[in-house]
Amino acid sequence: MATERISIDAGTRLIVLTGAGISAESGLATFRGAGGLWEGSRVEDVATPEAFEADPERVWRFYGARRAGAGAAGPNRAHLAVAEIEARLGDRFLLATQNVDGLHGLAGSRRLVELHGSLWRSRCSRCEAPPVEDRVVDVAPPLPACDACGSLMRPDIVWFGEMLDPAHEWAVRRFLKAAGVAGARLVFLAIGTSGNVHPAAGYVRYAKDLGAETWLANADEAANARWFDHVVTGPATSVVPALLGLG
Ligand code: OAD
Ligand code: ZN
Repeated sequence: MATERISIDAGTRLIVLTGAGISAESGLATFRGAGGLWEGSRVEDVATPEAFEADPERVWRFYGARRAGAGAAGPNRAHLAVAEIEARLGDRFLLATQNVDGLHGLAGSRRLVELHGSLWRSRCSRCEAPPVEDRVVDVAPPLPACDACGSLMRPDIVWFGEMLDPAHEWAVRRFLKAAGVAGARLVFLAIGTSGNVHPAAGYVRYAKDLGAETWLANADEAANARWFDHVVTGPATSVVPALLGLG
């Protein structure tokens, strides 16, 4: 169990990257590893524009199940610890999450970039009409259509093969670069992510190139583990508060 602690002083800038593992103890299944299949499919086969084109009802069923799970879940001690450290650091803090479950927001995180979108919004699959809030769990035919153009609505999620919102990428890079320019102590902490999905999996390397001290808190090995100076293995709800000195 973690006895290690990240040193955070008045000049430290901290960026936290989270993945599905931080929500595991809130009862939400991760994408890879045990329980990572859905109706016999890998997430890479459901979360794509091609899958939606071929069978939109099936993709909506998948995201309906995700909404039902996330809607019944609440933030855990790891989400709360991340929000608490933000309250201390203010603008010296940024949280980038790959999660779409909304639990960081419920925990109180505000300096938050949702890299992969949100389960709680839908948008048009064709036109540029802005995303709308949508909490419907049982999405059944007739599938919802865009008010502006009549095309099918889709979850506001970044799927495999799609680009991240450039503003989100920019927010992460700007935070890291600003620390480099200021000569500040920069700490990068990844929590509960298997390091398989880019660009998020590459942020640690970028941070390290800018002189960051890099930490990984994860239940098992990650694909990008070699870029971390410190790897702490264990469940997020105990490891994260301890690492942040909030245990
Ligand atoms: P993964 O499912 O790939 O990895 C989750 C990681 O969390 C694994 O390495 C586990 O060891 C770890 N883990 C599990 N339980 C944990 C716990 N209690 N405490 C700490 N760690 C724990 O999830 P991500 O890396 O988030 O994209 O996956 C990245 C992206 O792939 C997701 O955002 C999603 C998926 O396809 C989209 O939906 C677009
Ligand atoms: Zn439209």
